[in-house]
Amino acid sequence: MSASSIPVIRRGEPHTLSTRGITLLRAGHREVRRLKREHIPSIHGNKVWNSSFLIMDELNRTRAGLGLGADTHLMDIGCGWGPLSIYVAKRFGARVTAVDADQDVFPYLELHAAINRVEVTPLRCRFEKLTRQRLDGVDVITGADICFWDELTPVLYNLIRRALGQGVRRIIIADPGRSPFYALAERCQAHLNARLVERRTQTPKALSAELLIIDRD
Ligand SMILES: C[S@@+](CC[C@H](N)C(=O)[O-])C[C@H]1O[C@@H](n2cnc3c(N)ncnc32)[C@H](O)[C@@H]1O
Repeated sequence: MSASSIPVIRRGEPHTLSTRGITLLRAGHREVRRLKREHIPSIHGNKVWNSSFLIMDELNRTRAGLGLGADTHLMDIGCGWGPLSIYVAKRFGARVTAVDADQDVFPYLELHAAINRVEVTPLRCRFEKLTRQRLDGVDVITGADICFWDELTPVLYNLIRRALGQGVRRIIIADPGRSPFYALAERCQAHLNARLVERRTQTPKALSAELLIIDRD
């Protein structure tokens, strides 16, 4: 997006959400409605999902231990409109690769990156196609609201194993509590260095999510 085409978003204007130092657009915002005429996401990437806020808070809380900064490469899988990708790029100055299978989410990601004045690298790729080569050099993987179908459980488990084998230090997947996510958590806790923690926030509204946190041994 060229500098002259970046829409001006006024603080507090309708259908915007400012939280944790970033600005997000809701489905009713004029810029979102404009994009919707041409791009209709088809795998639920049709809004900013809530679990992402709990991962933001977890990253902020643990940033020192994780060494989050300009030298960190974070991969946000199933990025959708990119709330988490944008937060990480803005808050920590980290290098961010925003991965999604659905090409129609990327215009919304680009819009959010532009209005927040950050750069993230988009990558259209399915979880199952994220090869060891792609995962090489990635330090942290995040994924908010990405384990919502039974068939995603083995796909994500295998991706987690590939990522750990490639040297990824921490993986955080968040979910409000769907059964495919709990199946993933059980499998990870049985075989990997994984834990499940419940997190809550009051911002932007009262929310809770389970965080599956997997560390390299
Ligand atoms: C519920 S949305 C969550 C979006 C974003 N993480 C958020 O917090 O707003 C799930 C996202 O995962 C993507 N997705 C679903 N299955 C996928 C797959 N197999 N590979 C890559 N992305 C996938 C969808 O296209 C969608 O953007």
